[in-house]
Amino acid sequence: MTGRTIDAEPSVSYLKSMSVKPLIILPDASLRKVSEPVVAVDGRIRRLIDDMLESMYHALGIGLAAVQVGELLRLLVVDIAGKDVPKNPQVFINPEITWFSEQRRVHEEGCLSVPGYYAEIERPEKIYMKYLDRSGKLQEIEAHGLLATCLQHEIDHLNGVLFIDHVSRLKRDMVLRSFKKRSRERHVSI
Ligand code: NI
Repeated sequence: MTGRTIDAEPSVSYLKSMSVKPLIILPDASLRKVSEPVVAVDGRIRRLIDDMLESMYHALGIGLAAVQVGELLRLLVVDIAGKDVPKNPQVFINPEITWFSEQRRVHEEGCLSVPGYYAEIERPEKIYMKYLDRSGKLQEIEAHGLLATCLQHEIDHLNGVLFIDHVSRLKRDMVLRSFKKRSRERHVSI
């Protein structure tokens, strides 16, 4: 997920072993696939987590799901700390929302896979969520505000859902058409 307010320079890689992966963008069909649970939190998964964090910071995002770097795994990374405070990377493996609040909040969302498009999306204000942490330990979190919005946006990705699915059909079709056109133009020019 991205926000308009973040306009810092791309962050410098803080660990040489990490690598920035190319991000998958609309209309790539894998964005519509349902991701599989992570079976074991092993070295490969931890490397993927590091690469996802690096890719998210590089792209100035505040959340990234594994499918966005081409891995159909139920895994996401988030950092909503903002640009003027220390980094606060958070990792959620096999996340599962167990409770939504009745109260809702509206946030202007963007997405690294739908670059340049922003829309106000309404979602539950508060959630409880179960997940595995980086060491494979079961955890539970109570999230509200921006973190709750961001987690719901990223969990949607794990189910093949994009934030544009929450806007009107008219707007969604407009966005889809423009990304399909851009994709055709890219293919013609290379
Ligand atoms: Ni997104």
